[in-house]
Amino acid sequence: MEKVVSGIRPTGNLHLGNYFGAVTSFVRMQEEYDCKFFIADWHSLTTHPKPADIRQSVDTILAEYLACGIDPNKATIYVQSDVPQVLELYLYLNMNAYLGELERVTTFKEKARQQPDNVNAGLLTYPTLMASDILIHRALKVPVGKDQEQNMEMARKCARRFNNIYGVDFFPEPQSFHFTAQAVKIPGLDGTGKMGKSQDNCIYLKDDEKTIKKKVMKAVTDCGPQSANSPKPEVIQNLFDIMNVVSSPDTVRFFDDKWNDCSIRYGDLKKQLAEDINNFCAPIRERIEQFSADKENLHRVAMQGAEKARQSAQQTLDEVRQIIGFHK
Ligand code: TRP
Repeated sequence: MEKVVSGIRPTGNLHLGNYFGAVTSFVRMQEEYDCKFFIADWHSLTTHPKPADIRQSVDTILAEYLACGIDPNKATIYVQSDVPQVLELYLYLNMNAYLGELERVTTFKEKARQQPDNVNAGLLTYPTLMASDILIHRALKVPVGKDQEQNMEMARKCARRFNNIYGVDFFPEPQSFHFTAQAVKIPGLDGTGKMGKSQDNCIYLKDDEKTIKKKVMKAVTDCGPQSANSPKPEVIQNLFDIMNVVSSPDTVRFFDDKWNDCSIRYGDLKKQLAEDINNFCAPIRERIEQFSADKENLHRVAMQGAEKARQSAQQTLDEVRQIIGFHK
Protein backbone atom coordinates (compact mmCIF):
# COMPACT_ATOMS: atom_id res chain seq x y z
CA MET A 1 0.00 0.00 0.00
CA GLU A 2 1.26 3.42 -0.90
CA LYS A 3 2.45 5.49 2.04
CA VAL A 4 0.85 8.78 3.00
CA VAL A 5 1.98 11.20 5.72
CA SER A 6 0.46 14.42 6.88
CA GLY A 7 1.01 16.74 9.81
CA ILE A 8 -1.69 18.58 11.68
CA ARG A 9 -0.89 21.90 13.33
CA PRO A 10 -2.31 21.82 16.87
CA THR A 11 -3.93 25.23 16.63
CA GLY A 12 -7.46 25.62 17.89
CA ASN A 13 -10.57 23.69 17.08
CA LEU A 14 -11.76 22.26 13.80
CA HIS A 15 -14.31 24.30 11.87
CA LEU A 16 -16.63 23.36 9.03
CA GLY A 17 -14.04 24.50 6.50
CA ASN A 18 -11.47 22.08 7.93
CA TYR A 19 -14.08 19.36 8.02
CA PHE A 20 -14.95 19.56 4.34
CA GLY A 21 -11.28 20.09 3.44
CA ALA A 22 -8.49 18.19 5.12
CA VAL A 23 -10.54 16.06 7.48
CA THR A 24 -12.87 14.51 4.91
CA SER A 25 -9.92 13.92 2.67
CA PHE A 26 -7.97 12.14 5.45
CA VAL A 27 -10.97 9.99 6.29
CA ARG A 28 -11.25 8.97 2.65
CA MET A 29 -7.51 8.33 2.25
CA GLN A 30 -7.29 6.01 5.24
CA GLU A 31 -9.36 3.49 3.27
CA GLU A 32 -6.93 3.35 0.36
CA TYR A 33 -3.47 4.11 1.67
CA ASP A 34 -1.12 3.33 4.50
CA CYS A 35 -1.77 6.66 6.24
CA LYS A 36 0.17 8.27 9.01
CA PHE A 37 -1.31 11.40 10.51
CA PHE A 38 0.50 13.17 13.28
CA ILE A 39 0.01 16.17 15.49
CA ALA A 40 2.92 18.51 14.82
CA ASP A 41 3.68 19.58 18.38
CA TRP A 42 7.41 20.07 17.77
CA HIS A 43 6.64 22.48 14.98
CA SER A 44 4.39 24.42 17.34
CA LEU A 45 7.36 25.26 19.62
CA THR A 46 8.50 27.97 17.20
CA THR A 47 6.02 30.27 18.96
CA HIS A 48 6.95 29.18 22.52
CA PRO A 49 3.52 27.97 23.73
CA LYS A 50 2.79 27.26 27.39
CA PRO A 51 3.06 23.58 28.42
CA ALA A 52 -0.57 23.44 29.58
CA ASP A 53 -1.70 24.86 26.24
CA ILE A 54 0.24 22.25 24.29
CA ARG A 55 -1.28 19.41 26.30
CA GLN A 56 -4.72 20.87 25.89
CA SER A 57 -4.47 21.45 22.15
CA VAL A 58 -2.97 18.03 21.42
CA ASP A 59 -5.85 16.34 23.28
CA THR A 60 -8.38 18.53 21.49
CA ILE A 61 -7.02 17.78 18.03
CA LEU A 62 -6.84 14.08 18.75
CA ALA A 63 -10.41 13.95 20.06
CA GLU A 64 -11.75 15.99 17.15
CA TYR A 65 -10.05 13.94 14.43
CA LEU A 66 -11.23 10.70 16.03
CA ALA A 67 -14.74 12.13 16.29
CA CYS A 68 -14.65 12.95 12.58
CA GLY A 69 -13.84 9.39 11.66
CA ILE A 70 -10.08 8.93 11.66
CA ASP A 71 -9.90 5.29 12.66
CA PRO A 72 -6.77 4.23 14.56
CA ASN A 73 -7.27 0.71 13.23
CA LYS A 74 -6.98 1.96 9.67
CA ALA A 75 -4.63 4.93 9.90
CA THR A 76 -1.74 5.50 12.26
CA ILE A 77 -2.42 8.61 14.30
CA TYR A 78 0.35 9.81 16.58
CA VAL A 79 1.92 12.76 18.29
CA GLN A 80 5.13 13.92 16.61
CA SER A 81 7.08 14.30 19.87
CA ASP A 82 6.47 10.61 20.67
CA VAL A 83 8.68 9.62 17.74
CA PRO A 84 12.26 10.75 18.52
CA GLN A 85 13.61 9.15 15.32
CA VAL A 86 12.27 12.18 13.47
CA LEU A 87 14.78 14.40 15.24
CA GLU A 88 17.80 12.35 14.32
CA LEU A 89 16.86 12.50 10.66
CA TYR A 90 16.17 16.23 11.09
CA LEU A 91 19.78 16.66 12.18
CA TYR A 92 21.13 14.83 9.14
CA LEU A 93 18.89 16.81 6.80
CA ASN A 94 19.98 20.07 8.43
CA MET A 95 23.61 19.24 7.67
CA ASN A 96 22.75 19.25 3.97
CA ALA A 97 20.40 22.25 3.93
CA TYR A 98 21.76 25.68 3.11
CA LEU A 99 21.09 28.90 4.94
CA GLY A 100 20.25 30.72 1.71
CA GLU A 101 17.55 28.33 0.57
CA LEU A 102 15.96 28.22 4.01
CA GLU A 103 15.91 32.01 4.21
CA ARG A 104 14.14 32.21 0.86
CA VAL A 105 11.12 30.15 1.98
CA THR A 106 8.16 32.54 2.00
CA THR A 107 6.53 31.05 5.10
CA PHE A 108 9.81 31.78 6.94
CA LYS A 109 9.91 35.34 5.66
CA GLU A 110 6.28 35.84 6.66
CA LYS A 111 6.83 34.42 10.15
CA ALA A 112 9.95 36.53 10.56
CA ARG A 113 7.84 39.56 9.76
CA GLN A 114 5.05 38.49 12.12
CA GLN A 115 7.35 37.75 15.06
CA PRO A 116 10.45 39.92 14.56
CA ASP A 117 11.53 39.39 18.18
CA ASN A 118 11.51 35.63 17.82
CA VAL A 119 13.17 34.66 14.54
CA ASN A 120 14.60 31.45 15.93
CA ALA A 121 16.51 28.61 14.28
CA GLY A 122 13.46 26.35 14.57
CA LEU A 123 11.54 28.73 12.38
CA LEU A 124 14.33 28.72 9.83
CA THR A 125 14.58 24.93 9.80
CA TYR A 126 10.83 24.34 9.81
CA PRO A 127 11.09 22.91 6.25
CA THR A 128 13.77 20.37 7.20
CA LEU A 129 11.72 19.20 10.18
CA MET A 130 8.75 18.83 7.87
CA ALA A 131 10.94 16.96 5.38
CA SER A 132 12.01 14.66 8.19
CA ASP A 133 8.36 14.03 9.18
CA ILE A 134 7.75 12.80 5.66
CA LEU A 135 11.03 11.09 4.76
CA ILE A 136 11.22 9.19 8.06
CA HIS A 137 8.40 7.00 6.69
CA ARG A 138 9.57 7.26 3.08
CA ALA A 139 6.08 8.47 2.20
CA LEU A 140 5.14 9.05 -1.42
CA LYS A 141 2.06 11.19 -0.96
CA VAL A 142 1.46 14.14 1.33
CA PRO A 143 -2.02 15.66 1.57
CA VAL A 144 -1.41 19.38 2.12
CA GLY A 145 -2.88 22.71 1.15
CA LYS A 146 -1.45 24.81 -1.68
CA ASP A 147 0.35 27.02 0.87
CA GLN A 148 2.71 24.11 1.63
CA GLU A 149 4.17 23.84 -1.87
CA GLN A 150 7.49 25.46 -1.03
CA ASN A 151 7.92 23.24 2.02
CA MET A 152 7.17 20.24 -0.16
CA GLU A 153 9.76 21.38 -2.69
CA MET A 154 12.28 21.52 0.17
CA ALA A 155 11.29 17.99 1.23
CA ARG A 156 11.95 16.75 -2.30
CA LYS A 157 15.25 18.62 -2.37
CA CYS A 158 16.26 17.01 0.94
CA ALA A 159 15.47 13.57 -0.48
CA ARG A 160 17.34 14.21 -3.72
CA ARG A 161 20.34 15.73 -2.03
CA PHE A 162 20.71 12.89 0.45
CA ASN A 163 20.52 10.38 -2.39
CA ASN A 164 23.11 12.34 -4.41
CA ILE A 165 25.58 12.87 -1.59
CA TYR A 166 25.63 9.20 -0.67
CA GLY A 167 25.12 7.83 -4.16
CA VAL A 168 22.03 5.90 -3.18
CA ASP A 169 18.46 5.66 -4.33
CA PHE A 170 17.05 5.59 -0.83
CA PHE A 171 14.49 8.35 -0.31
CA PRO A 172 11.63 8.63 -2.78
CA GLU A 173 10.56 12.19 -3.64
CA PRO A 174 7.25 12.85 -1.90
CA GLN A 175 4.45 14.36 -3.96
CA SER A 176 1.81 16.76 -2.70
CA PHE A 177 -1.70 15.55 -2.82
CA HIS A 178 -3.82 18.68 -3.06
CA PHE A 179 -7.14 17.78 -1.48
CA THR A 180 -8.21 21.39 -1.97
CA ALA A 181 -8.78 20.60 -5.64
CA GLN A 182 -11.52 18.09 -4.81
CA ALA A 183 -12.70 19.39 -1.48
CA VAL A 184 -15.82 21.45 -1.07
CA LYS A 185 -14.74 24.98 -0.32
CA ILE A 186 -16.60 26.37 2.65
CA PRO A 187 -16.88 30.15 2.70
CA GLY A 188 -16.84 32.22 5.87
CA LEU A 189 -19.84 33.97 7.36
CA ASP A 190 -18.44 37.48 7.00
CA GLY A 191 -18.30 37.55 3.23
CA THR A 192 -14.50 37.71 3.13
CA GLY A 193 -13.88 34.36 1.49
CA LYS A 194 -12.72 31.16 3.13
CA MET A 195 -13.91 30.00 6.52
CA GLY A 196 -11.03 30.18 8.94
CA LYS A 197 -9.50 33.48 7.94
CA SER A 198 -10.77 35.10 11.12
CA GLN A 199 -12.35 33.91 14.34
CA ASP A 200 -15.86 35.23 13.77
CA ASN A 201 -16.45 33.84 10.33
CA CYS A 202 -16.15 30.25 11.57
CA ILE A 203 -18.55 27.58 12.74
CA TYR A 204 -16.58 25.21 14.90
CA LEU A 205 -17.58 21.55 15.04
CA LYS A 206 -17.86 21.84 18.79
CA ASP A 207 -20.15 24.91 18.71
CA ASP A 208 -23.47 24.30 20.44
CA GLU A 209 -26.86 25.02 18.93
CA LYS A 210 -27.14 28.48 20.44
CA THR A 211 -23.70 29.54 19.28
CA ILE A 212 -24.34 28.27 15.75
CA LYS A 213 -27.61 30.16 15.60
CA LYS A 214 -26.03 33.37 16.88
CA LYS A 215 -23.21 33.18 14.34
CA VAL A 216 -25.45 32.37 11.39
CA MET A 217 -27.99 35.07 12.22
CA LYS A 218 -25.11 37.57 12.26
CA ALA A 219 -23.79 36.47 8.84
CA VAL A 220 -23.32 39.27 6.34
CA THR A 221 -26.07 39.68 3.71
CA ASP A 222 -27.17 42.43 1.32
CA CYS A 223 -30.40 44.33 0.72
CA GLY A 224 -31.98 41.54 -1.33
CA PRO A 225 -32.46 40.68 -5.02
CA GLN A 226 -33.36 43.68 -7.15
CA SER A 227 -34.74 41.78 -10.13
CA ALA A 228 -35.94 38.26 -10.88
CA ASN A 229 -33.36 35.55 -11.65
CA SER A 230 -30.41 37.82 -10.95
CA PRO A 231 -27.00 36.35 -10.15
CA LYS A 232 -26.26 36.09 -6.44
CA PRO A 233 -23.63 38.38 -4.96
CA GLU A 234 -20.81 36.63 -3.11
CA VAL A 235 -22.14 37.10 0.42
CA ILE A 236 -25.42 35.41 -0.54
CA GLN A 237 -23.81 32.72 -2.66
CA ASN A 238 -21.68 31.92 0.40
CA LEU A 239 -24.75 31.07 2.46
CA PHE A 240 -26.08 28.90 -0.35
CA ASP A 241 -22.71 27.16 -0.61
CA ILE A 242 -22.87 26.16 3.03
CA MET A 243 -26.51 25.16 2.61
CA ASN A 244 -25.49 22.93 -0.28
CA VAL A 245 -23.42 20.72 2.02
CA VAL A 246 -25.60 20.63 5.13
CA SER A 247 -29.19 20.95 3.87
CA SER A 248 -31.40 18.73 1.72
CA PRO A 249 -31.61 19.46 -2.03
CA ASP A 250 -35.28 20.39 -1.50
CA THR A 251 -34.36 23.06 1.01
CA VAL A 252 -31.74 24.52 -1.30
CA ARG A 253 -34.21 24.56 -4.18
CA PHE A 254 -36.88 26.19 -2.01
CA PHE A 255 -34.65 29.15 -1.14
CA ASP A 256 -33.20 29.30 -4.61
CA ASP A 257 -36.73 29.73 -6.02
CA LYS A 258 -37.41 32.41 -3.42
CA TRP A 259 -34.26 34.21 -4.48
CA ASN A 260 -35.24 34.00 -8.11
CA ASP A 261 -38.74 35.43 -7.62
CA CYS A 262 -37.41 38.05 -5.18
CA SER A 263 -39.54 36.85 -2.27
CA ILE A 264 -36.60 35.62 -0.22
CA ARG A 265 -36.35 36.60 3.44
CA TYR A 266 -32.82 36.27 4.72
CA GLY A 267 -34.08 35.76 8.27
CA ASP A 268 -35.89 32.59 7.18
CA LEU A 269 -32.92 31.39 5.18
CA LYS A 270 -30.59 31.89 8.12
CA LYS A 271 -32.93 30.17 10.55
CA GLN A 272 -33.10 27.14 8.29
CA LEU A 273 -29.36 27.18 7.68
CA ALA A 274 -28.60 27.37 11.41
CA GLU A 275 -30.92 24.43 12.04
CA ASP A 276 -29.35 22.33 9.29
CA ILE A 277 -25.80 23.15 10.37
CA ASN A 278 -26.75 22.15 13.88
CA ASN A 279 -28.27 18.86 12.70
CA PHE A 280 -25.13 18.17 10.74
CA CYS A 281 -22.77 19.02 13.61
CA ALA A 282 -24.72 17.53 16.52
CA PRO A 283 -23.55 13.91 16.16
CA ILE A 284 -19.96 15.02 15.56
CA ARG A 285 -20.17 17.34 18.55
CA GLU A 286 -21.43 14.49 20.71
CA ARG A 287 -18.54 12.28 19.66
CA ILE A 288 -16.06 15.09 20.32
CA GLU A 289 -17.44 15.34 23.85
CA GLN A 290 -17.20 11.59 24.36
CA PHE A 291 -13.63 11.34 23.06
CA SER A 292 -12.54 14.43 25.01
CA ALA A 293 -13.98 13.10 28.25
CA ASP A 294 -12.08 9.81 28.05
CA LYS A 295 -8.48 10.94 28.48
CA GLU A 296 -7.33 7.41 29.12
CA ASN A 297 -8.58 6.29 25.75
CA LEU A 298 -6.97 9.29 24.03
CA HIS A 299 -3.70 8.38 25.68
CA ARG A 300 -4.04 4.75 24.62
CA VAL A 301 -4.74 5.72 21.01
CA ALA A 302 -1.74 8.06 20.97
CA MET A 303 0.54 5.38 22.46
CA GLN A 304 -0.57 2.75 19.95
CA GLY A 305 -0.03 5.18 17.09
CA ALA A 306 3.38 6.16 18.41
CA GLU A 307 4.43 2.53 18.68
CA LYS A 308 3.57 1.88 15.03
CA ALA A 309 5.16 5.16 13.88
CA ARG A 310 8.39 4.46 15.80
CA GLN A 311 8.70 1.05 14.17
CA SER A 312 8.35 2.49 10.69
CA ALA A 313 10.71 5.35 11.56
CA GLN A 314 13.36 3.13 13.11
CA GLN A 315 13.56 1.02 9.96
CA THR A 316 14.37 4.10 7.92
CA LEU A 317 16.81 5.40 10.49
CA ASP A 318 18.73 2.11 10.72
CA GLU A 319 19.38 2.28 7.00
CA VAL A 320 20.18 5.99 7.06
CA ARG A 321 22.77 5.49 9.79
CA GLN A 322 24.40 2.73 7.80
CA ILE A 323 24.42 4.83 4.61
CA ILE A 324 26.01 7.74 6.47
CA GLY A 325 28.66 5.50 8.00
CA PHE A 326 27.39 5.12 11.55
CA HIS A 327 26.52 2.00 13.46
CA LYS A 328 22.95 0.87 13.10
N1 TRP B 1 3.45 22.57 7.64
C1 TRP B 1 2.18 21.93 7.74
C2 TRP B 1 1.11 23.03 7.90
O1 TRP B 1 1.43 24.13 8.23
C3 TRP B 1 2.10 20.97 8.90
C4 TRP B 1 3.11 19.88 8.76
C5 TRP B 1 4.20 19.68 9.53
C6 TRP B 1 3.09 18.85 7.80
N2 TRP B 1 4.87 18.57 9.12
C7 TRP B 1 4.23 18.05 8.05
C8 TRP B 1 2.24 18.55 6.74
C9 TRP B 1 4.50 16.94 7.26
C10 TRP B 1 2.53 17.44 5.96
C11 TRP B 1 3.65 16.63 6.21
O2 TRP B 1 -0.06 22.74 7.72
